[in-house]
Amino acid sequence: MVERADDARLYDSDGREYLDLMGGAGVNLIGHSHPDYLDALRRQLDAWMIGAHASAARLEALRGLTALLPSELDRVQFYSGGAEAVEAAIRLAKSATGKFEVLSFWRGFHGRTAGALAATGGARAGLGPALTGVHSTPYANCYRCPLKTTYPACGLACVDLAREALREQSSGSLAAILVEPVQGRSGNVVPPPDYLPALRELANEHDALLIADESMTGLGRTGTILASEQVKPDIAVLGKGMGNGYPVSAIAASSAVMKTGPFSAPSASSSSYGGFPLACAAVAVVARIVGEQQLADRTRVAGAEFLALLRELIPEQGIVGQIRGLGLAVGIELVADTRTRTPLGKKELRAVFARLLGEGVLVMIGGGSLRLYPPLTIDNADLTKAAQVIASVLNTWT
Ligand SMILES: Cc1ncc(COP(=O)(O)O)c(C=O)c1O
Repeated sequence: MVERADDARLYDSDGREYLDLMGGAGVNLIGHSHPDYLDALRRQLDAWMIGAHASAARLEALRGLTALLPSELDRVQFYSGGAEAVEAAIRLAKSATGKFEVLSFWRGFHGRTAGALAATGGARAGLGPALTGVHSTPYANCYRCPLKTTYPACGLACVDLAREALREQSSGSLAAILVEPVQGRSGNVVPPPDYLPALRELANEHDALLIADESMTGLGRTGTILASEQVKPDIAVLGKGMGNGYPVSAIAASSAVMKTGPFSAPSASSSSYGGFPLACAAVAVVARIVGEQQLADRTRVAGAEFLALLRELIPEQGIVGQIRGLGLAVGIELVADTRTRTPLGKKELRAVFARLLGEGVLVMIGGGSLRLYPPLTIDNADLTKAAQVIASVLNTWT
């Protein structure tokens, strides 16, 4: 039972201390209980909290976000959770293109509402047919390439397959390609550098929009403000870390895209809590701190060092299949056999989780991997300690 938290640490009711690399599933961006954050929320709570009216907090949040985001993404619409923002992004893409199909990717995750779920891999068992009009093809997961090819010799065969799948299956009405720049739930899978540019090209071929779902990766987590910024997404979905614990999400797009109907009608783009002052106060502080402390740049360096240290301390043998990551979104895929890459069983994954917890390190498990999301403010000594503990557990696992 957690009693309190501070930066990268959780403290339980028995007085034990944990290094928190789970961060509430990638939410903890600027650290638990950041004093500026607490102060801003307390002040807003004292002032007022109901209504999506204009407010100083909202203005500050919007200014802060747009100062960080690529200049072409100059309009922001707020929501409360990631799935809700993904739904909004899909609706906006339909509005902007007048088309309705979506291409998404195997083992991706976009949320559990109907539209987002249709674009999510492997989470639909027992839920009946998904929404129609959503196509799905393999992501560039080179460790587990379903096409059994090897990068770079493959020439991104997965994108070629997506192109062919659209040719075969689409009614010619592709509105958007929806992609995670780093696939979080499948274990922070980082695609090769030319993958997102190739998807950008594919979207252009179809006069479709590119939606980058940056719920997990946005605002510096991977070492740049957006993990997809080099390909200029038409819509970016933000969530998780942007509220640092307060439930808030957003989509960002250009004015030209955001102004298209029917999305632009207030009743078509709004939600009850979108733009409420407490959420905006949270976003304003997060955006200010990410900017002032240049957390994206810091994360690029700290993340590269952390990854290098993990690779130095943990050989890819025994139960360790692959160590990968971008910035401070790191994945360690665990396997029963490194040669066949057979995934480690669920029971054993749980046991690894429990052993790490017993050693005072809280990780997230997903996609057969340890998923690590320390706050971007974590100091180097804690990253070193985390790497050493993880190494001591994984290297001696039998
Ligand atoms: C990339 C991505 N998109 C969307 C979501 C859904 O967000 P939420 O759980 O806030 O609805 C998640 C949640 O893990 C996510 O990782």
